[in-house]
Amino acid sequence: MTVALFSPLTLRGLTLKNRIAVSPMCQYSSTNGFSNDWHLVHLGSRAVGGAGLIIIEATAVSPEGRITPDDLGIWHDEHVPGLQRLTAFMEAHGAVPGIQLAHAGRKASHSSPWKGGTVVAESQGGWPAVAPSPVPFGAEEPAPLELDLGGIEKVKADFRAATLRALEAGFRVIELHAAHGYLFHEFLSPLSNQRTDAYGGSFENRIRLLVEVVESTRQLLPADYPLLVRISATDWTEGGWTADDSVALAQVLKTKGVDLVDCSTGGNVPAASIPVGPNYQVPFAERIRREASIATGAVGLITSAADAEQIVATGQADLVLLGRELLRDPYFPLHAAEELGAEVEWPNQYVRAKPRRR
Ligand SMILES: Cc1cc2nc3c(=O)[nH]c(=O)nc-3n(C[C@H](O)[C@H](O)[C@H](O)COP(=O)(O)O)c2cc1C
Repeated sequence: MTVALFSPLTLRGLTLKNRIAVSPMCQYSSTNGFSNDWHLVHLGSRAVGGAGLIIIEATAVSPEGRITPDDLGIWHDEHVPGLQRLTAFMEAHGAVPGIQLAHAGRKASHSSPWKGGTVVAESQGGWPAVAPSPVPFGAEEPAPLELDLGGIEKVKADFRAATLRALEAGFRVIELHAAHGYLFHEFLSPLSNQRTDAYGGSFENRIRLLVEVVESTRQLLPADYPLLVRISATDWTEGGWTADDSVALAQVLKTKGVDLVDCSTGGNVPAASIPVGPNYQVPFAERIRREASIATGAVGLITSAADAEQIVATGQADLVLLGRELLRDPYFPLHAAEELGAEVEWPNQYVRAKPRRR
């Protein structure tokens, strides 16, 4: 019996050993953007746990692009050696290391969730947030500064430099974070983009910044390195970004050399009404895969081996990304293999604990 979840996935010149990816998850555990032992243990555990791909947390391409002062960063060459240590460990344990490159836009300069998650004033070590338009995320928040064309060029240059550092650090997959109301998503959505220049207004103008960054990233990546883009497939809000827009965007991204669209939703407006439930975002991955003929990743409340298997086996998505379930259980892939009857290797050190086949 073939188990789809444990079949390999080839994207360009790279083959993942299975279809389970660790969804990028901020750890808010860095000082000045540096990685540390927490990241090694956290990511290392999930590599040992059998994930095929680990996409490390939203990693800021510039200090002002951090969500919080505690975010991981890649804006300085000095960040590279710490990241190299992480990629070497993940790779040595059979997981492909990927990185999510990010700019928080108007959602920057907040405190970490367990410190309140509120705006950090400049007097308290915060910084002015930038965005396509001076429209705050929440009515009670200060308006972000509107990026001028020079500011947009800086964003592009920051992503280029970050990509080169990510390659040097040993990442084999790059994911651009264009979801959850962060900078690229803010440009995509008419709810947050009210510009009247070449980066606002029409669909072509709103997707321009993301497409330009995709083009320059693709140019810098070796031909066999996959490029992923995470989008919010809908704003779940009247007048916002829609699933139709996502299909149209995915069609463009495909022509620009993007290999997989990672399909999340929401995050650009606080009051959206979202029908949250098991597998609730999977239909977006399925539709984009079908209508844009591009590989997709499904994410969001996927918590069981049976559901993950069903998603891949029925062609709803090529990859499943798990977040919180993999926080609860770093060994989810090993447990899922056991449950689904797939034969997978356990780390040598743990083989004596491997359940025996009956
Ligand atoms: C602690 C935590 C941190 C997160 N950080 C990120 C992030 O850095 N980038 C991102 O795209 N999504 C982030 N997310 C969203 C997850 O990647 C995922 O899309 C979401 O949790 C839904 O999947 P789940 O139900 O399997 O957890 C985060 C989620 C959690 C729980």
